[in-house]
Amino acid sequence: MSISPINASTRYCGLFGCPVRHSASPAFQNAGIAAMGLNWRYLALEVLPENLPQAIEGAKAMGFVGLNLTVPHKEQAFRLANEVEDSARILGSVNTLKFEGLTPEGLWLPVRDWGRETPRQIRSIGYNTDAEAIIRALKEDLGFKPAGKRILILGTGGAGRVAALRLAAESAAELYLVNRTLSKAQSLSREIESHFPDVRVHIGYPPETQPVDLILNSTSLGLKESDPLPWDGQQFCLKRSALAFDMIYRPACTPFLQAAKDAGCRVANGLSMLLYQGVTSLKLWSGAEPPVETMRAALKGHIYSPSGPDSPHA
Ligand SMILES: NC(=O)c1ccc[n+]([C@@H]2O[C@H](COP(=O)([O-])OP(=O)(O)OC[C@H]3O[C@@H](n4cnc5c(N)ncnc54)[C@H](OP(=O)(O)O)[C@@H]3O)[C@@H](O)[C@H]2O)c1
Repeated sequence: MSISPINASTRYCGLFGCPVRHSASPAFQNAGIAAMGLNWRYLALEVLPENLPQAIEGAKAMGFVGLNLTVPHKEQAFRLANEVEDSARILGSVNTLKFEGLTPEGLWLPVRDWGRETPRQIRSIGYNTDAEAIIRALKEDLGFKPAGKRILILGTGGAGRVAALRLAAESAAELYLVNRTLSKAQSLSREIESHFPDVRVHIGYPPETQPVDLILNSTSLGLKESDPLPWDGQQFCLKRSALAFDMIYRPACTPFLQAAKDAGCRVANGLSMLLYQGVTSLKLWSGAEPPVETMRAALKGHIYSPSGPDSPHA
């Protein structure tokens, strides 16, 4: 299905981030929007952190159906959201806002349902679709279900924290946290223990005799060719893990994933994770099931085609 031309009825959604110009979201979100026959467009807009409150208010005032937020806005968006749904509350991080308008009868209706009318009062509901996306990607790409499993997590930055908390919420048995900055791993460990006391959390690599079900790279090591490897081969042999997941999707196969493959692990990169966080956002805004495979094809085409974002011609 071809996308409808922009006209006076077109509604907008989009991504606020800083920087945002390498985002793949417009490519696959607009493909999904077109396939759903919506007269919408998804924009990527660079917003400085100090301008985020005004930018969100502006989007509300202009009748946007919703927004995605990326680095560095997710924590501020959590504080700015008028309401926060459970998926975001425990994480203190919002990557999706859905806008709703108040009817004269006192009902909050999603902006998508307002047709030509403009609501006078609009509120934002904050969600976090990243955590669910990690779980869905692990399940669909690797057949992995966290309950009762032992997992080694490399990197406890923003994405590693979200992954660890969600894996704990899904009843993982044991989590090993490895991070360059020890204090961050320690603070995450305390956070997990306070919310999920049944999960055993350790700082550092598992003992030599201990296999794990999954090793997950959530460091940014592997994005650049010159990066060192994200794990210490002296402390952990990849043969001790059945599965390996790298949140990085560009390049498609990082040195970590290649080494994991060579060690006999089943592997997956972060493409599905990126896809599913966007699919869930579009579902929240539209109230309908987005066309996952159309969106996946658009995402892959955008990222991996010779004229993709890394191309000098992009
Ligand atoms: N597939 C997806 O949809 C998706 C979504 C989100 C993120 N990601 C990817 O996940 C990765 C992490 O993103 P993030 O948002 O969590 O970033 P972040 O908050 O900046 O965290 C970066 C992580 O990498 C570690 N790190 C960075 N440079 C390092 C170095 N030289 N040596 C050792 N460790 C280093 C950091 O350790 P310190 O704490 O010591 O700094 C931290 O654990 C990125 O590659 C990002 O592209 C993918």
